[in-house]
Amino acid sequence: MDQAEELRRMIEKQNQQKDVARVITVTSGKGGVGKSNISVNLAVQLSRLGKRVIILDADFGLANVEIMLGIRPKYNLADLMFHGKTLREIITEGPQNIGFISGGSGIDELANLSRVQLDDLRKMLYELDDLADVIIVDTGAGISDSVLEFVAASSEVILVTTPEPTSITDAYALLKTLVKRSQFSIDDTIIKIVSNRVDSILEGKELYNKLSMVVQNYLHLNVEFLGAIPMDMNVSKAVIKQKPVSLAYPNSDAAKAMYEMANVLCNEAVVEEEKHKKKGISHLFSNLVKFKKNRSSLND
Ligand SMILES: Nc1ncnc2c1ncn2[C@@H]1O[C@H](COP(=O)(O)OP(=O)(O)OP(=O)(O)O)[C@@H](O)[C@H]1O
Ligand SMILES: [Mg+2]
Repeated sequence: MDQAEELRRMIEKQNQQKDVARVITVTSGKGGVGKSNISVNLAVQLSRLGKRVIILDADFGLANVEIMLGIRPKYNLADLMFHGKTLREIITEGPQNIGFISGGSGIDELANLSRVQLDDLRKMLYELDDLADVIIVDTGAGISDSVLEFVAASSEVILVTTPEPTSITDAYALLKTLVKRSQFSIDDTIIKIVSNRVDSILEGKELYNKLSMVVQNYLHLNVEFLGAIPMDMNVSKAVIKQKPVSLAYPNSDAAKAMYEMANVLCNEAVVEEEKHKKKGISHLFSNLVKFKKNRSSLND
């Protein structure tokens, strides 16, 4: 057994002894399809359902999570790593008791960390698994090496698409690139599709059916359906107000769809099926450390 394998087994053993967080990574092929909105609103709705939720913003776009939550974090992940701040100091409290961690310059910065630095970060984030029931990671659009690596390291992934043809083909392209990676394993990562900006829930389900059939036929990959969110002007109105639509317009169609999805995620049967996937943020980071090790040994 090599060192990385030993490390992973140790973490798994530790995690079996404590109740670790469920980590949900939100991604998409094409940008601008609603990832940050979905991350924020799922967080609000999961919190309403009694979960302790923390959002980790691994994206650094313009309309990013902190703007949508109307908060301004003082510190970010880099302050934890390099400037002596504690984990609790870098968590900002958002509305509806949501915790928020800014990833600083985001996922590319993570990808540039050395293996030792990544492992240090894993240790620093270990406590996060105690502080949250659910950790939602907003990754940004997916066809970059660093995002794909992060997705492959995750046990539960939400892939967002809209009915726009380019969004569907980019979602497919992401999955195609993902399954080609040696790091990706069908048994370790479950992928759930969310259809956003649809005219009806039926259209959302059909969109999923189409994508899932092609993915099944050509990539031999199973993807699940998590839910559909209608096109709803209240979403953009809420973004302007810097409030999640679930709080600004709780009775809007989009907010109701988000609640529905949060409910599905919490549904007992789903949780049961997911139990073995609930491995915590430290497991995700130990995977990233493992990938880094494999890559550097390939370069040796
Ligand atoms: N269901 C919806 N109905 C109407 N507008 C929506 C909906 N979902 C998202 N939008 C709009 O689409 C825009 C992009 O959403 P968002 O920022 O969440 O996408 P993203 O995937 O995170 O983008 P990026 O790839 O840039 O990070 C937002 O300004 C929002 O107003
Ligand atoms: Mg975003």
